[in-house]
Amino acid sequence: MIKNVLLAGMSTLLLLDASCISAQTSATDQKIPSLKKVFKKDFAIGTALNNMQIEEKDPQAAVLIPQQFNTATPENVMKAEIIHPQWDTYNFDMADKMVAYCKKNSITVNAHTLIWHSQLPPFVRRIQDVDSFKTFFYNHIKTVAGRYDGKVLSWDVVNEALNEDGTMRKSVFLQKLGDDFVVEAFRTAQAAAPHTQLYYNDYNNEQPAKRAGCIALIKKIQAAGVRIDGVGIQGHWHLGKIPLKDIEESIEQYSALGIKVMITELDIEVLPRNFQGADVNQRMQNDATMNPYANGLPDSVQQKLADDYGALFTLLVKHKDQISRVTFWGVNDGQSWLNGWPVRGRTNYPLLFDRNFLPKPAFYKVVATAAKH
Ligand code: XIL
Repeated sequence: MIKNVLLAGMSTLLLLDASCISAQTSATDQKIPSLKKVFKKDFAIGTALNNMQIEEKDPQAAVLIPQQFNTATPENVMKAEIIHPQWDTYNFDMADKMVAYCKKNSITVNAHTLIWHSQLPPFVRRIQDVDSFKTFFYNHIKTVAGRYDGKVLSWDVVNEALNEDGTMRKSVFLQKLGDDFVVEAFRTAQAAAPHTQLYYNDYNNEQPAKRAGCIALIKKIQAAGVRIDGVGIQGHWHLGKIPLKDIEESIEQYSALGIKVMITELDIEVLPRNFQGADVNQRMQNDATMNPYANGLPDSVQQKLADDYGALFTLLVKHKDQISRVTFWGVNDGQSWLNGWPVRGRTNYPLLFDRNFLPKPAFYKVVATAAKH
């Protein structure tokens, strides 16, 4: 069926049909495949959404997002510092808007995240006594998870509780509540959000030592008789260094626990970096060598990025029965958090769409990996 859609503010006529999408971009008007359709029988395809996108203030994103993605994660608006800024104050404004935007566009919501040591509101670190901390912990989960039960598909109940060696991170949660805080978080979320899938999410948890810690943590939750439905591998990887073997072993070992496996925050770093992972508190010294592609990405790097994405998706498609979702951490390169982290003001190229919302060579490599059904 062909439908004509007149886009407000763009005075542009778009032709949409079932298999091919015509996206108006600032550079050109062209037909491109839709990721969510291409991978429909394999896994859900997601993106992180920021405020501009949720409020549809960016007309090109407003066209591209529903064309390409059938699931989304709030990049920031459901994190504690925004949704629960003070002891007795919750701010659901943007989170509610995200839920409404996704409902309108038939996009499921992967809510992110209930318990995380980063992006906490300042009051949490000022809480001295354990009882008050417990009150915050339980109230936060009950209030936030309870509000969105039935409205979101899933919660990242706990984010990044592990160190690189697989031991528990000495976070404020561990210090105040002890090792069992993860089980308690899932137990509380299960009661508050009985219709919502509950996930553990981390970066580098495809790497063997951290993976072993992650498996032990999941088994501990299961042994306590508490529900955990899935594990997220964030997938903040680096050009030329996608750990395909570790990823494959992780998919197999995690799914052997009887839970869903997903890639939850996919991007591929192309700029200089002296560490791996995605600890948002880690920063790097800035100097002239740190931003080599400010005027554009050389073809050779563009091609390498395409090859990396192609190899990764070949692996993910091979394991499509165990992978439920692949979410990119952002819509286009210009909107990626990697322009500002771990060094501010860089020009990065980690995603499938460029700054003009045009598909990059990596996009076509990814599309070509889809299983033939
Ligand atoms: C990032 C956001 O993209 C940024 O906008 C924000 O300033 C910091 O957090 N792991 C996660 C995500 O689980 O929540 C982080 O998102 C990236 C690393």
